[in-house]
Amino acid sequence: MTAPRHFLDLDRLPAQTLRGIIDFAAAVKRGEKLTGERPLAGQTLAMIFEKPSTRTRVSFEVAMHQLGGDAVVLESAGTHLGRGETVADTARALSRYVDVIMLRTNGADKLHELAHHASVPVINGLTDVSHPCQVMADVMTFEEQRGPIAGRTVAWSGDGNNMVVSWMHAAVQFGFDFRIATPASLRPPPAVVDWAAERGGRVSLFDRAEEAVAGADCVATDTWVSMGDEQTVATRHNLLAAYRVDETLMALAKPDAIFMHCLPAYRGEEVSEAVIDGPRSVVWDEAENRLHAQKAILYWCLVGEPDNA
Ligand code: CP
Ligand code: NVA
Repeated sequence: MTAPRHFLDLDRLPAQTLRGIIDFAAAVKRGEKLTGERPLAGQTLAMIFEKPSTRTRVSFEVAMHQLGGDAVVLESAGTHLGRGETVADTARALSRYVDVIMLRTNGADKLHELAHHASVPVINGLTDVSHPCQVMADVMTFEEQRGPIAGRTVAWSGDGNNMVVSWMHAAVQFGFDFRIATPASLRPPPAVVDWAAERGGRVSLFDRAEEAVAGADCVATDTWVSMGDEQTVATRHNLLAAYRVDETLMALAKPDAIFMHCLPAYRGEEVSEAVIDGPRSVVWDEAENRLHAQKAILYWCLVGEPDNA
């Protein structure tokens, strides 16, 4: 039996595979691939949520239906996983019913344990450490707006969270500069920064938002309080106020720089209303592209390397 094709993190797959998935997603969106086809007919996705979701849940479910398959949603609290059944046994049981499993979890170790014990592909739908499906949609969105991302500059201003880890992975895999401004106590994990440096990635850390954003092609941020960080709201608001993306900060980026946010957003906190609802914001394209990118990811997991010829 061949090993399942898991989609766990952007540092675990060849750059060529990631490029193939993005190109396929763009072709699917343009209506050049999979039009009227049902390549996933008879296949079922199980989605397990230990944390809330709007976009991930709906985009995966709609993607499965549009590709001819089905989706089952499991809220962790309503399953035996939520009351002590092991991740390994959950993986073994679900593998007997479904063809692919997506997990959104508060523990990245659970994702890896699930993948280890599942005999079907496992997809990372967000962990406390990373959010690779979102960053695939974001790279696709950048390229749709501004052409190839290789050699361009993406700046981050805010919390050094799970989005930053997947952006760092992407910077190495797709060959762009990633400039990260965070408070010292909210920097991304040093192991990932070191991983990027060892691979010649152009990832740099800054204390001040203005330094990171200067001359960037894209400015990105995320909520100050990720799911699971609720006990530190006041501290985070104090630390992160200087990293808000507003029109003054955006003015330091390139004149045609775009603004990205994975959503959900909190206007007046990490981003001003004028920026997120303004002409440089591409947040709704990012949200839409979750659907197209995940069709390509599901296709890669269940069918194989897409034919981009
Ligand atoms: N961006 C994102 O993953 O959104 P949801 O939490 O709504 O799924
Ligand atoms: N960093 C955020 C992303 C939400 C999609 C969180 O983990 O809550």
